Amino acid sequence: MENMLVTGGCGFIGSNFIRFLLEVSDFSGKIINLDNLTYAGNIENLASTAANFPDRYTFIRADICEPEILDEIFQTYKIDTICHLAAESHVDRSIVTPDAFIQTNITGTFNLLELARKNQDRMELFHHVSTDEVYGSLGETGFFTEHTPYDPSSPYSASKAASDHLVKAYSRTYGLPVTISNCSNNYGPYQFPEKLIPLVTFNALEGKALPVYGDGRNVRDWLYVMDHCRAIWQIMCHGTRGETYNIGGRCEKFNIDVVKIICDYLDDITPDTDIGPRRKLITFVKDRPGHDLRYAIDCSKIETALGWVPMESFASGIKKTIQWYLDNQRWAARIKSGEYMTWIEEHYGQHTENKK
Ligand code: NAD
Ligand code: TYD
Repeated sequence: MENMLVTGGCGFIGSNFIRFLLEVSDFSGKIINLDNLTYAGNIENLASTAANFPDRYTFIRADICEPEILDEIFQTYKIDTICHLAAESHVDRSIVTPDAFIQTNITGTFNLLELARKNQDRMELFHHVSTDEVYGSLGETGFFTEHTPYDPSSPYSASKAASDHLVKAYSRTYGLPVTISNCSNNYGPYQFPEKLIPLVTFNALEGKALPVYGDGRNVRDWLYVMDHCRAIWQIMCHGTRGETYNIGGRCEKFNIDVVKIICDYLDDITPDTDIGPRRKLITFVKDRPGHDLRYAIDCSKIETALGWVPMESFASGIKKTIQWYLDNQRWAARIKSGEYMTWIEEHYGQHTENKK
């Protein structure tokens, strides 16, 4: 792996992954970060890394839905490895505007696979980063394994399921060297503040309503983003080609409990007499349509086969994450000020309403 194309490297997980590759891992090659900078992509996420690794890091603004440009990049940089993270990633957006999810997540993945197939002689690996949401919803018991049948609920998870199937088909039909990871909910620095943890953190800091869908008893299995990055790299280096690995935090929590943890921690470290106890900002709102009840990953395959285990506990990870958001409020203010806010006001005005 000498010339790695990382797609979606300006997003939440992608920017953490590139930082991990260059600053922590034993990867010694070059990275070409291809991202078209949608509302969720922020080039500033990698500013210091870019400055520290000028010979090993290149950013290219391009769209994975444009195959001719991809072809040019492939030849110019002699790409031999792909780690594919670029996606439309937010379930609520996929419910309102599914088109972009179909284009980027399905057609974009297909374009990359085609390119990998055409350049198969030098292709070391195509790693596809996917989600546990492809498996649909669990009831109150049980876990997703690598053999759980796909049963996606949202346009987002259906588009990711389609992309997973394409990747598997290219492995079986053309012998393309692929690996796939299906991971549970991530949290950590640089997550766009439309997702539960950053959204609640910023709203709580500003004394705004904390929207909890339904009764707040939906369960997610939380994983600190750096643990995910380590897992991806472990799979890329040592995973069996053609196989899928589930990644999870063994950390199930009710949404309402996550929101309460954030409220209590913020009250502790940054009390605000005008706002008062932040739990009173919790506002139960209309449920998400097709809202999956529970996700929980059985990650024994990656633990046993590759020796990966999550290192961060939720107790320590959430504190680090909240502290990072406190220290980076300028980052948040900037990304929250543009097109994102216009969109969110149009579609989810109630989420930012101040109900204090
Ligand atoms: P994100 O929305 O923060 O980042 C996505 C990035 O992809 C952005 O930088 C965006 O600009 C880029 N992008 C979007 N469309 C593009 C296109 N057409 N061409 C080029 N770049 C494009 O998402 P994330 O949370 O970092 O997720 C990254 C990947 O991990 C996704 O594939 C997602 O399905 C998967 N995943 C996410 C989670 C999670 O909890 N966030 C969990 C499991 C798997
Ligand atoms: P989210 O962060 O959007 O991730 P995903 O939908 O991929 O799991 O949501 C996490 C959980 O939190 C999910 O059950 C939906 C819920 N949720 C809320 O209750 N309120 C919110 O404002 C958001 C964004 C999510």
